[in-house]
Amino acid sequence: MLKTFIKEHFLKIVCLPKYSLNTRAVDKNMEHNSSVRNFEDIPGPKNYPLIGTLYKYLPFLGDYDVDAMDKAAWLNWRKYGGLVREFPGVRLLHVFEPDLIEAVFRQKERYPARRSHIAMLHYRLNKPEVYNTGGLLSTNGPEWWRIRSTFQKNFSSPHNAKHYINDVDNITRKFVEWIKECKISSKEDFLPYLNRLYLEVIGVIAFNEHFESFTSQEQDPESRSSKVIKAAFESNKGIMKLDKGTLWKYLKTPLYRTLARSQEYLEKVSLDILLKRLNFYENEKENNDKSLLASFILLPNVDIKDITGVMVDILMAAIDTTSYTTSFALYHLARNEGCQKKVFEELLLLMPEKDTEVTSDIISKAVYLRSCVKESLRLNPVSIGVGRLLQQDIVLKGYLIPKDTVIVTQNMVACRLPQYIKDPLLFKPERWIRDSDQYEVIHPFLSLPFGFGPRSCIARRLAEQNICITLIRLFRDFDIKWKGSDLGFKTLLINKPDQPISLCFTPRNL
Ligand code: HEM
Repeated sequence: MLKTFIKEHFLKIVCLPKYSLNTRAVDKNMEHNSSVRNFEDIPGPKNYPLIGTLYKYLPFLGDYDVDAMDKAAWLNWRKYGGLVREFPGVRLLHVFEPDLIEAVFRQKERYPARRSHIAMLHYRLNKPEVYNTGGLLSTNGPEWWRIRSTFQKNFSSPHNAKHYINDVDNITRKFVEWIKECKISSKEDFLPYLNRLYLEVIGVIAFNEHFESFTSQEQDPESRSSKVIKAAFESNKGIMKLDKGTLWKYLKTPLYRTLARSQEYLEKVSLDILLKRLNFYENEKENNDKSLLASFILLPNVDIKDITGVMVDILMAAIDTTSYTTSFALYHLARNEGCQKKVFEELLLLMPEKDTEVTSDIISKAVYLRSCVKESLRLNPVSIGVGRLLQQDIVLKGYLIPKDTVIVTQNMVACRLPQYIKDPLLFKPERWIRDSDQYEVIHPFLSLPFGFGPRSCIARRLAEQNICITLIRLFRDFDIKWKGSDLGFKTLLINKPDQPISLCFTPRNL
């Protein structure tokens, strides 16, 4: 067993540089430019036989820490420049310059692919009684497009997102009441509260399911809501580490077992909800369920297994991404009094009474608040960049990048470089506002917090809308101060705040 692993894993590294140069894209370029250089000529860390650049990630020996991939990216950028190659088990290219990032995304690929969630794909494909595919996050090729094109209509249209404003507003009002009752102090971490808020929000939008996660019974670690939040976190936590190797194919490593256990729980909850709903729809002739699930059930050409896969993907993808993004936005606004004052003044005009309903008109007129979310996502995106698996040879900056190279666009580092943005480390929402004197023309491929193109985040509009509604309710009701020190993050696939979200909420009188 171990022999097979060593053969598969290490031979892959040794054999990496041997690729063919026979695609039309390359021939065309080479006709005009005979000086196209090889992939191995791209600057990058020393590459050893058998281990490639994997030694860089070894505990104690290596100078890269998988929990701080942004630091590794910084080191790479400073040492090697805008294009950096690596071989940590796969042929990997880091792209830092926005023009080059644009060139990567402008490739006309029918089915843009990512090499991620490999262990999860393995887990799901070994459970054909539950899943047809690895789901949206891990599947590539025509099968990915089959699921994506079928499910995305209901997710992605702005018109559809607007249907949920009222439901989300009602949940956030209850959330505000709950945090008032709890008298949250700055000694507590606000993140678990946000996890509960977004579980409730996604439960209603996606499944018409109330997890009732603000109730005292649900605070128990063994309750359904506590276990869903934990399982979603644990499903995501190990993905990057598991993607770095394949030992788990042969030995069920502790990290793989955690992934499998958490997937099993999300599956169980999804199936329970799905069966309950199917039963309900069968018995009720008329219902006004406008959840995503109600629309999924009416889709032609999908079965229960497709729906289960997408439900588990939703539970995995919705909670931490939105909670962390909201945490960082609260952190920036709570530290920048001037910005928070502008947010409040904008809200006071749009919502003269505290209990004014949030509408799509209010959200679209809350220009300053929306630019705060944009600016916070520039500084603290949940993902350090976007991953793509190249499907044809391309030439980038004079180097041949062969098919099957894993590309990581390093947007987070680029977003913090002065050559691309003024005062990059300052939180300055005005830079995004056209009629502000601080408006900047920013490269459209610099900040891509939701990815790009047909493979970008399927729930972008919903996520942005939900974050805006939460911030509207919180800043309309409270003056919020940051009580912690400078907030950093750990790169666990989704960049997690590295310390408690320590906030002081003072109710506003106006
Ligand atoms: C602030 C919140 C969120 C951020 C920043 C975010 C970001 C991202 C990013 C960067 C990707 C990869 C895009 C690419 O490769 O081009 C992605 C994919 C995805 N996201 Fe989100 N996301 C968020 C919220 C959500 C929510 C709420 C859901 C579900 C309800 C969701 C579901 C997904 C799914 C299913 C994919 C895979 C799409 C595919 O491969 O076709 N995300 N997201």
